[in-house]
Amino acid sequence: MSDTNYDYDVLVIGSGPGGYVAAIRAAQLGLKTACAESRETLGGTCLNVGCIPSKAMLHASEFFDAATNGTMKEMGIDVTPKLNLDQMHAQRRDAVDGLTGGIEFLFKKNKVDWKKGHATFEDAHTVKVGDDTVSAKNVIIATGSSVTPLPNVEVDNEKQIVVDSTGALELAKVPKKMVVIGGGVIGLELGSVWRRLGSEVIVVEFLDKLLPGMDDDVRKEAAKIFKKQGMELRLSTKVTGVAVKGKKATLTLEPSAGGEEETLDADCVLVSIGRRPNTEGLGLENIGLETNKQGQIEIDHDFRTKVEGVWAIGDVVPGPMLAHKAEDEGIACAENVAGQTGIVNHDLIPGVVYTWPEFAGVGLTTEEAIEKMGGDKAKVKIGKFPMMANSRAKTNHEPEGFVKIIAEAETDRVLGVWAIASVAGTMISQATQAMEFGATSEDIAYTCHAHPTHSEAIKEAAMAVQGKPIHI
Ligand code: FAD
Ligand code: NAI
Repeated sequence: MSDTNYDYDVLVIGSGPGGYVAAIRAAQLGLKTACAESRETLGGTCLNVGCIPSKAMLHASEFFDAATNGTMKEMGIDVTPKLNLDQMHAQRRDAVDGLTGGIEFLFKKNKVDWKKGHATFEDAHTVKVGDDTVSAKNVIIATGSSVTPLPNVEVDNEKQIVVDSTGALELAKVPKKMVVIGGGVIGLELGSVWRRLGSEVIVVEFLDKLLPGMDDDVRKEAAKIFKKQGMELRLSTKVTGVAVKGKKATLTLEPSAGGEEETLDADCVLVSIGRRPNTEGLGLENIGLETNKQGQIEIDHDFRTKVEGVWAIGDVVPGPMLAHKAEDEGIACAENVAGQTGIVNHDLIPGVVYTWPEFAGVGLTTEEAIEKMGGDKAKVKIGKFPMMANSRAKTNHEPEGFVKIIAEAETDRVLGVWAIASVAGTMISQATQAMEFGATSEDIAYTCHAHPTHSEAIKEAAMAVQGKPIHI
């Protein structure tokens, strides 16, 4: 199958969840494959400084929080917790080492060659990787994304005063007062970690609600929940600058719509205002490939760029910047390179915020569904069920949240599912699968769900679409 004019059938640039999965899939399909990675370890943002280390800190801090906020006491466990932050960081690093090492093992097992170094295109089939030059019939760009900088704000992860998400995972001390710039996914997840460990956390968000992109009901509830947990929310406010003096930072804020400036002091500032695609130094100009206004590489339905033999996937292309989206694109792209038919349903990419409780959703928001129906609210049916009425959540002392199912009134087909629950991230997979199979709310309502589980709230929300839930 290999074309002997090239060193490889496929060279993947980047070993994040998009790249490493594409490389393994390509090798499984019999293609001679290499993967270029400039980091010391494989796994990209996700395994090294993203999904995995943040979940390690979220999971560990959740236990600490349960011990300090009275939840354990309520369940008959009297403890006086003492934080060992060094050990918490050590178990995070262990998780990262184990998983990044696992990718190295999988590369060896599948005979994927790891080319160490920064990759730059010389032409569409020739890529310089460090001191090496590699030729490949197909090149898949999976270079991912990096933190979006904020004008007038200098991030210095070493000093641990103004940090990005990578720095916020590594703080050696619990800051007394942390200001989070951006009430999106990173701000709320990492803000939650440090609040649970003892920081006073203030979230400054440009928009009037947290979590852009989620259903409005979920966004409003999120504000109530985080406030109740003790976070201070400064919505409709933008940060215009941060000055560091000694060990303190002073932020300058003003209302998003303009108005009087004010200042805010902090021991630590987390900049989390989004991420941007990695294309700098990739040599795209050498192959005549331009990025769009958002800095992304445009692709067609099959992940082809406009340059023959060059493909792109993951955070560097349009769409949500999520690891599972990158992984699915990696598999589908490799299948297309191998001449098979690889497809990703971009309408059904679930999103999860791994706070307490978790916030999750898939498909359309209520607002999007109504817009899709020409603005006619009557064409959309909604069923909602509170977690308070779910026996398992109630028993577990997890009363917050709800499940909301949005269906098309005429056909009953489910258009979107939203959930706030301790295990919403796990629950959302069943909704995604049901929607993938074109389920109606009735299909979900008449599917037997094990009792007692949080997932029964999905069944009840589906029954509520018909106006007939049992437990409310
Ligand atoms: P990346 O994972 O960014 O990998 C790209 C790799 O390419 C990097 O290792 C980079 O070093 C390498 N590279 C770049 N340019 C070159 C070059 N020219 N030559 C060689 N190598 C190069 N998503 C979720 O779905 N769930 C989560 O819980 C989650 N949590 C997150 C938490 C944080 C703190 C952050 C920052 C992100 C999180 N994400 C999460 C997002 C997720 O990490 C990304 O969507 C995902 O990693 C994108 O995968 P990718 O393969 O496109 O790119
Ligand atoms: P985000 O896009 O989720 O949120 C950024 C927030 O910052 C927005 O609400 C925006 O309005 C606000 N903002 C922008 N400029 C501002 C300013 N000057 N002052 C105040 N607020 C401002 O971006 P975030 O949290 O940095 O995450 C980046 C990406 O990483 C996300 O796209 C997400 O997909 C991914 N990620 C996913 C996770 C998950 O799936 N659980 C976890 C962490 C990250």
